[in-house]
Amino acid sequence: MGRNFLMVPGPTNVPQRVQNAMHRNSEDHRSLDFPQLGFAALEAIKRVFQCRQGHAFIFPGTGTLGWEAALTNCLDPSDQVISVRFGQFSHLWIDMMKRLGLRPIELDVEWGEGLPMDRMEDLIRNDRAHDIKAVCVVHNETTTGVCTDIPAVRQLLDKYQHPAFLMVDGVSSIGAVPFKFDEWKIDLAVTGSQKALMLPAGLGFVCASPRALERSKTAKLPHVYMSFQDHLRSNVDGFFPYTPSVPLLYGLVEAVKMLEEEGYESVWARHHKLAEGVRRAVRAWNLEICCREPRLQSDTVTTVMLPPGIDGVQIVKTAFQKYNLSLGAGLMRLRGKAFRIGSLGDLNELTMLGALAGVEMTLRDCGYRGIQDWRWRCGGRRVLPAACFASTRFHRGDCKDLSRHFICWRHFSGSKHDFVFLVDSPALDQMRENADTPVQRHRRWLCTRAAADGHRMVRLPCTRAVRAPPGGGPRILFTPSSSLSLWLRPLHSIHIGVYAKAS
Ligand SMILES: Cc1ncc(COP(=O)(O)O)c(C=O)c1O
Repeated sequence: MGRNFLMVPGPTNVPQRVQNAMHRNSEDHRSLDFPQLGFAALEAIKRVFQCRQGHAFIFPGTGTLGWEAALTNCLDPSDQVISVRFGQFSHLWIDMMKRLGLRPIELDVEWGEGLPMDRMEDLIRNDRAHDIKAVCVVHNETTTGVCTDIPAVRQLLDKYQHPAFLMVDGVSSIGAVPFKFDEWKIDLAVTGSQKALMLPAGLGFVCASPRALERSKTAKLPHVYMSFQDHLRSNVDGFFPYTPSVPLLYGLVEAVKMLEEEGYESVWARHHKLAEGVRRAVRAWNLEICCREPRLQSDTVTTVMLPPGIDGVQIVKTAFQKYNLSLGAGLMRLRGKAFRIGSLGDLNELTMLGALAGVEMTLRDCGYRGIQDWRWRCGGRRVLPAACFASTRFHRGDCKDLSRHFICWRHFSGSKHDFVFLVDSPALDQMRENADTPVQRHRRWLCTRAAADGHRMVRLPCTRAVRAPPGGGPRILFTPSSSLSLWLRPLHSIHIGVYAKAS
């Protein structure tokens, strides 16, 4: 029972709004009014890339098709390209380059590290004949959770006035973290529908600069289905050169609308906050984050390294079988040694808390004993690591999806610990206990319900840090999700924490 906690770094959860938008009958993709949808979709994805000058292509396919489209539309057979292997996806892209007949200069780094900028600089500086035609980098290596500083790569090319194309795989980054196609002077960027865009898999997107579009008129690597020029001829009238997935186009327009209602800056800030919560939890668990350099740590996926004796495959299996929690497995050389927590797409703080709670329980189930006493100090009290979000502010309307999370708390309350779920607000403190406001009415009703359920409501003075519940004894407030969300709705903001009983 309960919805699957889908915490892999793609495919991600599809919001109800997007599902509704896609739920429709087939339509004639050659009809007179189709261009309305065609233009809306093409313009929407262009805004996601933050591109004004170039063109963004929509292909039926996935990110892998996007890689191939970018390479084959802009390069000739045997062209030399630079690429760095720092995880499975950069490895697969290099493999594709070789199979297409390109000559990649492969730079290997230890997985967990970022781009070797000094080695790249040597190659660019010494290539006076401009034999290198492209520098291909993965913005967010989903295997390791390591990011690339794209503007730094651009600067490197500019420093030596090197004309190589800058090609970027943004499959697990674009739409979730800052990505500025025009400003960073990217020539080709690739992404897919099933990650930050919160859609099912099925669309591959490639954004091309005017320079790349010009090159696509003469590039000789074979391409037919993915021809930029064929697409341009149709796209100019709002059509596609073959039958498009109409439901996915509707979904795309709706998903971008959601991102833009939230605002790109807020979307990026949300992803940063959630990923930071994951990182704090990992540190509290005394585990290592695969990406060693904090500056490069991904805001969409965290790869968690496991100590010898704890099997990553078992972690992923247990999380799924016991808690209905889907975590990303360690890939290729990280298989069994790591697992991954996705933090992208349609997620909020409570979703993340639930996932972290599930990971903690799974770690313990799988024999990990590295968390001292399973408690963590916060504000002078011992609390569960999941409480690292405790001082997070939730704003009005953010509490929509609570029922999912409480499934996990129920597991907790069945464990050895006592828990209290704390809710407080500045607004609440200013109100008299017996005031007959909607907030107080909800509150009294909640207290009665909690008492009837054998729980005790613990009300704390409003505090920015997490404080312990006063008094001793069993301190449990486990609120039914429906009542909690009802109660929270009128509040300006709340603080939430999950406490373990300090013995
Ligand atoms: C960084 C990165 N690049 C490329 C891909 C491949 O994309 P797809 O599976 O959509 O073909 C993935 C998939 O997870 C990815 O994370």
